[in-house]
Amino acid sequence: MDLQTVEKRIKDLQNLLNQYNYEYHVLDKPSVPDAEYDRLMLELVELESQFPQFKTPDSPTQRIGGEVLDTFKKVEHRTPMLSLSNAFNEQDLRDFDRRIRQIIGNDFSYVCELKIDGLAVSLRYENGIFVQGATRGDGTTGEDITANLRTIRSIPLRLNEPVTIEVRGEAFMPRRSFEALNKVRKERGEEPFANPRNAAAGSLRQLDPRIAASRNLDIFLYGIGDVGETGITSHSEGLDFLEKLGFKTNKERKTCANIDEVIEFVNSWVEKRQSLAYDIDGIVIKVDSLEQQRVLGTTAKSPRWAIAYKFPAEEVVTILKDIELSVGRTGVVTPTAILEPVRVAGTVVQRASLHNEDLIREKDIKIGDHVVVKKAGDIIPEVANVLADKRTGEEKDFHMPTHCPECESELVRLNGEVALRCINPKCPAQIREGLIHFVSRNAMNIEGLGEKVISQLFSANLVHDVADIYKLTREQLIGLERMGEKSVNNLLQAIEASKQNSLERLLFGLGIRHVGAKAAKTLAMEFGTMDRLASASREELTAINEIGEKMADSIVTFFEMEEVRELIQELKASGVNMEYKGPAPVTRTESESFFSGKTIVLTGKLAQLTRNEAKERIEALGGNVAGSVSKKTDLVIAGEDAGSKLTKAEELGIEVWNEERLLEELTK
Ligand code: IVH
Repeated sequence: MDLQTVEKRIKDLQNLLNQYNYEYHVLDKPSVPDAEYDRLMLELVELESQFPQFKTPDSPTQRIGGEVLDTFKKVEHRTPMLSLSNAFNEQDLRDFDRRIRQIIGNDFSYVCELKIDGLAVSLRYENGIFVQGATRGDGTTGEDITANLRTIRSIPLRLNEPVTIEVRGEAFMPRRSFEALNKVRKERGEEPFANPRNAAAGSLRQLDPRIAASRNLDIFLYGIGDVGETGITSHSEGLDFLEKLGFKTNKERKTCANIDEVIEFVNSWVEKRQSLAYDIDGIVIKVDSLEQQRVLGTTAKSPRWAIAYKFPAEEVVTILKDIELSVGRTGVVTPTAILEPVRVAGTVVQRASLHNEDLIREKDIKIGDHVVVKKAGDIIPEVANVLADKRTGEEKDFHMPTHCPECESELVRLNGEVALRCINPKCPAQIREGLIHFVSRNAMNIEGLGEKVISQLFSANLVHDVADIYKLTREQLIGLERMGEKSVNNLLQAIEASKQNSLERLLFGLGIRHVGAKAAKTLAMEFGTMDRLASASREELTAINEIGEKMADSIVTFFEMEEVRELIQELKASGVNMEYKGPAPVTRTESESFFSGKTIVLTGKLAQLTRNEAKERIEALGGNVAGSVSKKTDLVIAGEDAGSKLTKAEELGIEVWNEERLLEELTK
């Protein structure tokens, strides 16, 4: 073949494959069998690798997942990506409508759209070619996730017209993909994602685009950054234009002449949303005319011409079959409701923490009760209330035990705490939980060594303390249930790799009382090595800004213990790194942070950070930490035992995160 013929063949293949891709992923109407697509793709991959001069950024081969990145570059949005204010009931919608009519009169229409529960992204095309994709970030600056977005098949790499345009939409993970992904993660002993939204966000935040490529993400486009010279005069025309360019938009939208029609549309989706293939968390209502949008303008945070109606948290009735007790790493005994499995907000729920006996009394929970279950912030399952009128008389009262369910030592209530604790340092449950903590993501991060495997190793007497993890042999592991050759190899490799972790991970993993992930990092940076920290005096410790007396005492006491000194020697002997390796952490400037300008409320007990640490870190990134939840609150961080603030946040529809999600954002 001469070069000209090659070039033509490559172009033809690219066009054909882009077309097939569009038919399959945007129109949902495939015109050729998968095998035919695969055959042409293979031919193109081969031709492009032989003749790389003809490879273009819009070639369908470019979706497969390119190079692994070091960091995400920052992207300044040319038009800010605003967020919406929320409505939680009919009254809020009527108030919104009244405010609009006061400004523009009665002659206008609304467009209602599904509020897709995913991650807002912006896509930039130059002369019809996809050149850059970014997260929303703080609305002004986002992160460049082009390589990950390229892997989404419904994002066209080349548009039907050579326009230069920035478009906005919601990337998401369809429910079925989410379920399949979690199934695999559970099988591998990895932590499943809490919901499709987290799974989508987690996938797009990976530096290795092959991960996003394997995650089956999708997108709906719902807006244009700046319509410029396109001649578009309304939002609905904009959506039609997006479709014409080759984008996927959501068809379940409706133009409404007045707020009554809007409310009818909203209500029609409350039940119907369960039948969708993806999660939605509400309905977005927008004034259609762009001129009227301009007149209405925006407030500091959000446009006046649009609002997001948030569905109330889904509530489901099920039976509370039993109450189980678990002993945590710090000895706290927690009662957990064992439920008849039910689907709530996207996942099957079969357990919910009941926190402590006071809460069980307060809610009058008995074993055998019909209970209403919902998810706090769509993440943490909880028993909302009991349906007392469904009682048959067979239900049983529950009482907390006086002795530890694992080691039988007497439980104590430390000064002022509601929680009951086992204070036996040799309690097997505490040791097992300590091991689970040691290998967890923010500590030594040993992939493949999740809760299940640790429990197996512990029951089989193969590990007694964290040093034993580094003595595990192939022979010991291969004998375990569901441990094939490949998983054993991967696990041994992950254990080996963790030896190179920087000191702060080890410090955090050791579970020193009051030392969270942040404090561990400070200590590692200040002292540099384990030995220097171990011999630090109380005064040296408190001299550090972020280390208070309580923490200093706890650190000194920890390193004075003979068994701790022995443990560290053993870890050293196995080759576990004892030095701080990281560069001085890069602190983001306020304007780049997710938290900047946001009001955040912390509630409940955090496990890895103290309240104060969380507060300081959020404030360092430009957030305001407030004491109580109100309509002005942007975000609530709910730890264990979160109570009325969490309930209020849910009532107001405020976004709720768990601690893990917070740490993810803080350490980004
Ligand atoms: S419009 C200025 N339409 O909901 C208008 N948003 O705060 C900006 N979302 O960040 C958003 N589906 O991530 C719009 N059909 C839709 C949407 C939608 C989901 C998300 C988006 C945005 C948030 C609203």
